[in-house]
Amino acid sequence: MDKLVLPKHVGFIMDGNGRWATQRGKSRSAGHVEGYKALEKVIDYGFRRGVEILSFYAFSTENWSRPKEEVEKLLSLMTNAIKVAGKKLIKNKIKLVISGDYSMVKPSVKRAIDQLIEKTSTFSPYVVNICFNYGGRAEICSAVNKIIASGAKEVNEQLISSYLYTKDLSDPDLIIRTSGEQRLSNFLLWQSSYSELYFTNVLWPDFNDDEFEKALTWFGERNRRFGKV
Ligand code: FPP
Repeated sequence: MDKLVLPKHVGFIMDGNGRWATQRGKSRSAGHVEGYKALEKVIDYGFRRGVEILSFYAFSTENWSRPKEEVEKLLSLMTNAIKVAGKKLIKNKIKLVISGDYSMVKPSVKRAIDQLIEKTSTFSPYVVNICFNYGGRAEICSAVNKIIASGAKEVNEQLISSYLYTKDLSDPDLIIRTSGEQRLSNFLLWQSSYSELYFTNVLWPDFNDDEFEKALTWFGERNRRFGKV
């Protein structure tokens, strides 16, 4: 029986920004701004606590259908994150991975993202993985298409994993979803096969160190059998 005390990789489905804002009579975009602050705190706490990889579902392939103003706010938060948080990642030797197709951002932003990925690429063991314009099914399809293009006649799990955005990362041990919804919504579908799933009613902007610690304690009490007895 395999009992992990601390997860190595935690994934976050940051849900409830809109409801948090509506409850306060604010715009949904204001909720995302607060959500971004929560994300920063979670990164600080997670690494301090010894978690090595933190994945965040920041923008899904389905989020494009939201109101234009909200989409623009999410894109600008991403742009700002690259400008501001970039220095922090380098200073703290944290590797940045972006899972998803970010080729639609302004060329200057794309260059900044590419440079930051390159500059942090050798850092280990701490990783921030931002899932941006990401969808789990699209990721698997894209991997399979690349495999077909490579001329391979047969696939196995290892081969598919090696074509995913997360090819250099271990699978998430724990996935946390806030706001009371209990589903994966296309987040790290392949990688979450054996993840423990933790759901809390807390809305993402209210997810703080104490809430994170509760999830870690809950995880520590799980027995992970990976299909064995
Ligand atoms: C879901 O809440 C949240 C999102 C779709 C976006 C999450 C993004 C951030 C927390 C900040 C962005 C960070 C980066 C790095 C770009 P919701 O809007 O669906 O909430 P609701 O279900 O209450 O409406």
